[in-house]
Amino acid sequence: MTDIANTSPPRLGRLDDLPRAGLFHAPTHMEPMANLGAALGTKRPLLVKRDDLTDMAFGGNKVRQLEFYLGEAQAQGADTVLITGAVQSNFARLAAAGARKLGMDCHIQLEERVAKNDPRYRNSGNVLIERLLGATLHSYPEGEDEAGADRQLGEIAEGLRQAGRKPYIIPLAPGHAPLGALGYVDMARELLQQVEAAGLTVDDIIIPSGSGATHGGFLFGLRALGSQIPVTGICVRRDAAQQKPRIEHRCQEIADLLEVENPVPADDVVVTDAFLAPGYGKASDEVLDAIRLAARMEALILDPVYSGKTMAGFIDTAKRAEGEGALIFIHTGGTPAIFAYEGDLTA
Ligand SMILES: Cc1ncc(COP(=O)(O)O)c(C=O)c1O
Repeated sequence: MTDIANTSPPRLGRLDDLPRAGLFHAPTHMEPMANLGAALGTKRPLLVKRDDLTDMAFGGNKVRQLEFYLGEAQAQGADTVLITGAVQSNFARLAAAGARKLGMDCHIQLEERVAKNDPRYRNSGNVLIERLLGATLHSYPEGEDEAGADRQLGEIAEGLRQAGRKPYIIPLAPGHAPLGALGYVDMARELLQQVEAAGLTVDDIIIPSGSGATHGGFLFGLRALGSQIPVTGICVRRDAAQQKPRIEHRCQEIADLLEVENPVPADDVVVTDAFLAPGYGKASDEVLDAIRLAARMEALILDPVYSGKTMAGFIDTAKRAEGEGALIFIHTGGTPAIFAYEGDLTA
């Protein structure tokens, strides 16, 4: 068992020295999913870590990531936050919310990643909340050009600088210090404390793998703290062949940022793309069924882009995996997107 009391520095390096914004209260709950277990015919404990309930503007995993980005923005004296993401980006919604709570403005660049002309996709869900928060919205035509999206965001920031503002950019493409991933290094410490307090043996933890900040940070945190609990990343954006090296790279970037040795060997990065089809921002029937089952058994509200795909992966693991140890589902939120995807969810 991990000795958490003994685990802060040096294994987590500078983690506790970096500025944080104080946007939410930890720990988030970890709850049993007994009804789902019964429906799936398994006696092993199934649990959900409620990272959808991170306090602010419908919550989600990105609040933990913004702790560090907006902490740095505050430390730099920024007055405007800039972020880029898909039209229904949860990160953009929460960046706008965090900026407002800290008294800053927010510019959001919405990228065309998903071919969807449904007016609900373009106006409801996260976009509606961003408008309520008074964020300034821009658009970027290419959904797969991360470097180009960052470049255009830089141009918007330059315009703001010339107008006397102090912009802070949250970058998209890899190659920047992965500040957001630190939120999930921290969450690994929190979850290990909960696992220890409950006296659980855990066989697998199922987590979404998109930009990799959540998956990479969490895996890094567990291994840095000496836990060998398996972690399975569910691909939500790219196939496994692209995602695995991305997570390996993220872990090295986190090690560089924290100034510690990377504790994650390459063969410890496990990802599956079995639930990705038909692609980013689109859900298969299996994913839609998983969303309905989680709602009907556990009153969990999942989205078709991230947490629904992750639940499909979780259900598959619960049905197939042998053993008696607990399985943990990390609920990363995405709740407002259900209103944008009403057509898919009610079809
Ligand atoms: C609800 C939700 N879950 C999971 C993810 C994936 O997290 P990451 O980009 O850190 O891999 C995202 C990313 O936007 C998200 O909004």
